Amino acid sequence: MSEVKILLSEKELPKQWYNIQADLPKPLPPVLHPGTGKPIGPDDLAPLFPMDLIMQEVSQERFIDIPEEIQDVYKLWRPSPLVRAYRWEKALDTPAKIYYKWEGVSPPGSHKPNTAVAQAYYNKKAGVKRITTETGAGQWGSALSFACNLFNIECKVYMVRISYDQKPYRRIMMETWGGNCVPSPSSETNAGRKILEQDPDSPGSLGIAISEAVEVAAQNDDVKYSLGSVLNHVLMHQTVIGLEAKKQFEMVGDYPDVVIACVGGGSNFAGLALPFARDKIVDKKKIKIIAVEPTACPTMTKGLYRYDFGDTACTTPLLKMFTLGHDFIPAPIHSGGLRYHGMAPIVCHLYDLGLIEAVAYHQNPVFEAAVSFARAEGFIPAPETAHAIRATMDEALKCKESGESKVIVFNNSGHGHFDLASYQKYLGGELEDYEYPDEKIQESLKKLPKIQGEM
Ligand SMILES: Cc1ncc(COP(=O)(O)O)c(C=O)c1O
Repeated sequence: MSEVKILLSEKELPKQWYNIQADLPKPLPPVLHPGTGKPIGPDDLAPLFPMDLIMQEVSQERFIDIPEEIQDVYKLWRPSPLVRAYRWEKALDTPAKIYYKWEGVSPPGSHKPNTAVAQAYYNKKAGVKRITTETGAGQWGSALSFACNLFNIECKVYMVRISYDQKPYRRIMMETWGGNCVPSPSSETNAGRKILEQDPDSPGSLGIAISEAVEVAAQNDDVKYSLGSVLNHVLMHQTVIGLEAKKQFEMVGDYPDVVIACVGGGSNFAGLALPFARDKIVDKKKIKIIAVEPTACPTMTKGLYRYDFGDTACTTPLLKMFTLGHDFIPAPIHSGGLRYHGMAPIVCHLYDLGLIEAVAYHQNPVFEAAVSFARAEGFIPAPETAHAIRATMDEALKCKESGESKVIVFNNSGHGHFDLASYQKYLGGELEDYEYPDEKIQESLKKLPKIQGEM
């Protein structure tokens, strides 16, 4: 057995993020104003984000420098290991070579601080006093609380009610780092109060929580909003993952045939995949890139590629994305972070261009793969991550049948230490598979905004 952990030194930490907008074969469709339906400019976003982040959102530069202050924080856990899963390969009896990029080593336990730290830094630089955000599973809220604390900014998190109830420890993490977390829908905002009037027991959704966080930022000059996924600048901050992985593969003389990650809003997928997608676009490398989602929230596999709002109250700009409709209320499955109705425009664009693939899995096979991985490799993955693990397992089992020794890499986006209730349900045989009914999707899709020239 040669090296298990392929490690880079701190000196080898990437000094720039990669912006795929510079290499796209066709530019991204424009972001539209929710009122006029016309393309928006940087000034339209200024109430919500600091200008440095807005400029990154629209930048066409291929590489953007990572400020030293951000690199210094990254060094608390980066570069993260690329691990060869020898033991799992053996357990699966596959000739495939399986690698994973291990993002669970960050203080909050996921990939999320790669952008949280960057966003807190640029907000601080712009004099912002408080940041509002939403969180699903609590990974993002805890990452932003961690980052805001380092840059001395207040952090307010609207946490999807169902996760708030299921995962009290995530809230306590946020509070330990000084963040303030309330369940969403809350009675603190117009958007929250409106939902509560209709349904006092609403389990919440990321779309509702975004409406609340955006409302507070839009109404206060010294408050800005931060999103943990979906937007171009967020995906770009995550590319440190793939940039490191490419160097690590060079060190061992390998290169992936298959790149896999789960998708909620698309950020950990993009983080690993975009630097490899560049090789596919520019150098015509033959790589299969797979995005994995739950059947309970099948955004890419069953949604439509249309303009839609990012939130339920219809306040955000319109993004062209695969969507299940902005009023989609997901079933309470255990992957809180994968229950978003939309998807990052960059990921959708790549899917539309045929550069990446998408698959959907039920909860039970996902947890089966997570347990198989944990019993071989030790680490217990987050339920979100386990979707990528299921797809990896299937690719490895296909290699067993064909006898091919493909190189597969997946993004191990976070640990599952706060998700043990879901493991308990799986191990007790109580976890239910759920397929979102087609009629419900069609109902939500009927409410998509009408955009001229579309459809
Ligand atoms: C561990 C983990 N992986 C993946 C995701 C999905 O988000 P994204 O698609 O933005 O990476 C989440 C979201 O909360 C998460 O916590």
